[in-house]
Amino acid sequence: MSPSSRESASEVAPPSPWEEAYARFETPAEERRKFLRRLHLLGAEEWPKQSQIVEIFCGRGNGIHALEALDFQRLEGVDLSPALLAQYHGRAVTHAADCRHLPFEDSSRDILIVQGGLHHLEGLRDVEQTLGEVSRVLRPGGRFVAVEPWRTPFLDLVHWVSEKPLVRRLSNKMDAFATMTHYERDTYERWLASAEPILALLAKRFTPERQRIGWGKLMYVGTPRRR
Ligand SMILES: C[S@@+](CC[C@H](N)C(=O)[O-])C[C@H]1O[C@@H](n2cnc3c(N)ncnc32)[C@H](O)[C@@H]1O
Repeated sequence: MSPSSRESASEVAPPSPWEEAYARFETPAEERRKFLRRLHLLGAEEWPKQSQIVEIFCGRGNGIHALEALDFQRLEGVDLSPALLAQYHGRAVTHAADCRHLPFEDSSRDILIVQGGLHHLEGLRDVEQTLGEVSRVLRPGGRFVAVEPWRTPFLDLVHWVSEKPLVRRLSNKMDAFATMTHYERDTYERWLASAEPILALLAKRFTPERQRIGWGKLMYVGTPRRR
């Protein structure tokens, strides 16, 4: 068992309907390949291998496995769900915690990564609080990396298609996607409708190193502004 502050298996609750759909949306191998492609696009090959990296909202940890495959050694993950964390088996230390209150000292980590997590927060105040925590925990010169859904014509098309009953019957993946969207609809819709305020919150805390919007995603790398 890897070092971990997560709860023991006997305390882990059964997966929620959202977690069940998330588990069948992509296999772990597909997810790792996706994360590796993204890390490449985000410039991860240039990050020092000794960086202390935390994947926040890490779920079952496939983003961490992608970082392991790139030879990063000092890895941690944070997620609210002990059931998802329990599915991660690797060398990173995992923490069952709320990312609005990160369990780390000030200026103690080099890189914090979120992939598909911020849009699960209830509202902009929670996003602001989480970005404040990220900025507190990062060392000066560190990096915040975010990949989140973003409203683009492509994303609208994917939603339109995935909600067709025939498509859902024919494609397990599309059905899983529509099920996840159903269970997270309120927060997800609020997130997608808040592009400008979200970019303003990012700009308040970070200086962008990379920012790309396309194919239904925001891909962002920023360094913390001086506090
Ligand atoms: C779409 S999943 C993304 C997981 C992983 N990043 C991935 O892409 O596979 C969103 C994750 O956010 C977690 N989550 C939601 N709210 C959270 C919070 N306030 N603090 C920590 N994790 C949270 C959920 O448990 C879930 O694992």
